[in-house]
Amino acid sequence: MTQSDLFLGLDLGTSSTKAVLLSADGALIAEAQADHPVSYPRSGWSEQDPSDWWKSCVSATKSVLDRAGGNAGDRVAAIGLSGQMHGLVVLDATGKVLRPCILWNDSRSAEICDRWMRSPGLPELLRTTGNRVFPGFQAPKLQWVKEHEPEIFAATTHALLPKDWLRYRLSGVMMGEPSDASGTGVFDCAHRTWSTDLLQRLGFRRSLFPDIAESPVHSATLSAEAARALGLRAGIGIAGGAGDQAAGAVGSGIVEEGTVSCVIGTSGVVFAPSAKWRATANGELHAFCHAVPNKWHLMGVVLSAGGSLRWFRDHLASDTIELAKQRGVDPYEILAQRAAAASPGARGLVFLPYLTGERCPIPDAHMRGGFLGLDVSHTRDDATRAVFEGITFALAGNIALLRELGLSINRVRLSGGGARSLFWRQLCADAFDAEIALLESDAGAATGAAILAAVGAGAFVSVEAACRATARERECISPGKDASRLARAHAKFDEATRHAQGFRH
Ligand code: XUL
Repeated sequence: MTQSDLFLGLDLGTSSTKAVLLSADGALIAEAQADHPVSYPRSGWSEQDPSDWWKSCVSATKSVLDRAGGNAGDRVAAIGLSGQMHGLVVLDATGKVLRPCILWNDSRSAEICDRWMRSPGLPELLRTTGNRVFPGFQAPKLQWVKEHEPEIFAATTHALLPKDWLRYRLSGVMMGEPSDASGTGVFDCAHRTWSTDLLQRLGFRRSLFPDIAESPVHSATLSAEAARALGLRAGIGIAGGAGDQAAGAVGSGIVEEGTVSCVIGTSGVVFAPSAKWRATANGELHAFCHAVPNKWHLMGVVLSAGGSLRWFRDHLASDTIELAKQRGVDPYEILAQRAAAASPGARGLVFLPYLTGERCPIPDAHMRGGFLGLDVSHTRDDATRAVFEGITFALAGNIALLRELGLSINRVRLSGGGARSLFWRQLCADAFDAEIALLESDAGAATGAAILAAVGAGAFVSVEAACRATARERECISPGKDASRLARAHAKFDEATRHAQGFRH
């Protein structure tokens, strides 16, 4: 008889679906990826057709099974799902998708959020969900459909998040889980259930949203039709899974209070598990359910982290692109060398990284970035250093709020493109006043999803036990001699941010 000893993790991302196969002890067997398109029908809009997700899911799954070789398809014991958060898929009573999915980075519902911040108002939103509402979230998009596409809203029987739609496509079952539901704007995160109070107040039926089971629970099974398409066995379990941030945290072992991660990609995300429900006074940080039963997490999202550095490279330091080609290195390495040549604090020059507005800890979609304190003596190296420092201080602002909530943060696991540079890692150690650790492998959300499936199948006794077995640190650095000079620069950065807050284009 064939052994059932592999777990498939699928991460439905914004640009592709990633698939990983893990063994029962959590080792990576194979990974694959297949792209799907995004469309931007108008400025500020971004949409995807769920049928394209299905195609990339089939293609990534087939590739990962091929790479694993043998009879891998027969050995898969269960599937775990992860995906881009916040998106809205609307379906009619027969399960037909009624319009393209409106994605997490679509801002058409900004005006609706402004209105909801006035009524029901911030205190009511915080009381019912624990969070502010952002235009990226699912519920304001549903309101947008109600107001702008009334015939579609009238036919809408179900509203699903992207990875929960994928579960429906795989199994015919509509189910959600707490970590992704937290990003809808109508989920009572403290009690891990839909906020019937808020839904009633906003005029949405509870039945629009799926029932909830915890992330490791196998809440659906693979249908015969989907099994044929994917090359898997019908009837295997599909775990609840998690939104991409919570699933990524499981992949990196960020499940116990006291371990914190910081991922520096285009955006920068600080993620801190919490053993009890806690939230910041005015919703400055997202306070969401974790993918671990009875645990929560706080999350700070800096919208333009690596994105600010890329802008600087492309528009003010494009010579690094050519230089890097000649030297066979990464342009960001040259930028880091220039920044390292300037002194801490960039001799008073401050860079504000709010190029696409900000989410946390300053929830202001309209604010913009800039250089402040520029004088004639500043050099290119100072400007480069100011950019690295500004991004790092914005991330550190989120860590400071976590500490105010009583979380002790002595060590941060850094990942994403920003973790590659030793200069940036040291800057983070100094600005966060914490040790900075790297992981042996940069495991992503698909790995976290597969781990959740394995926990649900009983391969590990708990998510925490699975993480202890799979996530290993390989390097750690401590705050160094520049920390106190940076503290003065950070104070200047905070002052500059206050000045920038009222400034509009
Ligand atoms: C989380 C967030 C993104 C999306 C897309 O709040 O907006 O991580 O999930 O990846």
